[in-house]
Amino acid sequence: MALVTEKPPVLAAPRRAPLLMNATRDLAEARAELAEVYDLAPSMKAAQETAEIYERVKSVIPQVDWAHHAPYVRAINKIKREKQAVILAHNYMTPEIFHGISDFSGDSLQLAVEAAKTDAPVIVQCGVHFMAETAKILSPEKTVLIPDSRAGCSLSEGITPADIEKMRADYPGAPVVTYVNTSAAVKAASDICCTSSNAKDIVESLDAETVIMTPDGYLARNIAKTTNKRIVWWEGACMVHERFTAEEIRAYREANEGVKVIAHPECPPEVLDESDFWGSTSGMINWVRKNRPEKVVMVTECSMSDNIATELPDVEFVRPCNLCPHMKRITLENILWCLHSGEEEVTVDPEIIEPARLAVERMIEVSQRKLGAVSGD
Ligand code: 13P
Ligand code: SF4
Repeated sequence: MALVTEKPPVLAAPRRAPLLMNATRDLAEARAELAEVYDLAPSMKAAQETAEIYERVKSVIPQVDWAHHAPYVRAINKIKREKQAVILAHNYMTPEIFHGISDFSGDSLQLAVEAAKTDAPVIVQCGVHFMAETAKILSPEKTVLIPDSRAGCSLSEGITPADIEKMRADYPGAPVVTYVNTSAAVKAASDICCTSSNAKDIVESLDAETVIMTPDGYLARNIAKTTNKRIVWWEGACMVHERFTAEEIRAYREANEGVKVIAHPECPPEVLDESDFWGSTSGMINWVRKNRPEKVVMVTECSMSDNIATELPDVEFVRPCNLCPHMKRITLENILWCLHSGEEEVTVDPEIIEPARLAVERMIEVSQRKLGAVSGD
């Protein structure tokens, strides 16, 4: 059947939704309090006590930098056990967080599933605000903390519940599939969520010819190329992935003979057309693990290559990458502060938590059904 896509409606410029601001605490005061309670000065003792962890990351973190990380890694691992907290880290966290202190790492879908099933009373979400909100939606009885609530997302900030209603009015009867990179209020206004790893399955699970996808226009275009459904979309974009160009990818191929190129579906379609594989952040990691290319370019956020390079010394990572300023707000220092002080707790309006939960749970159900079908369970 022919592929049918449609030009998106004319849209207003993305708005900045009000984000929770970081606690109005004086940074110097907070640092002084931490220094009083924990031994945070670089020392031989801290380096020795974290030597096993450093062994895993030494190919990407110089010893001189580890000397500064080690006291924080030691303190965080101790306090998280005392508080029975679980630390979830997105694949874009820096290696000292990803390998040094997290209990579980993964893509957005894996973090959401883990948040739903953990028994820990406290979840520290090392990622951006929508990820912490998703954890709270799935585990309202738990305390969910984020080290810096200003860690937003250009996709999440580019759409509101009123925009979803406008799309519904433009395409009556079409179900709304909303990327998890959105606020709880936008999720609540949608029928079902998706992530980059399950977007096609979610779209195809719906009994409708036309499906509305929000808020990532590139993800929608990329999925539209893989399905017979008619996809209409909202014109949001990820500020990190929209900057990659097909020309840039061709230049990397020219400069690096035989290089494999793998990309994230938040990139423009012409970038994906130049790639050997595309998938979610964990999909990309698994592709490299399985295929062990001699040289690879991961067209995504910078920390991904570092995090996987630690376990694959035989693979050369060519690093054109873009930094996500939101993800990079999360640091060892504010993780320690967050566990120490209990700031900042993520809350979701009780009126929207239920409809938002339904949209996320429907997504998890479809994904798990699909996984079960693939594994024959
Ligand atoms: P993943 O679901 O692939 O981890 O993507 C999340 C994200 O924010 C990518 O920019
Ligand atoms: Fe949002 Fe893009 Fe950052 Fe992911 S990388 S959190 S989509 S701005």
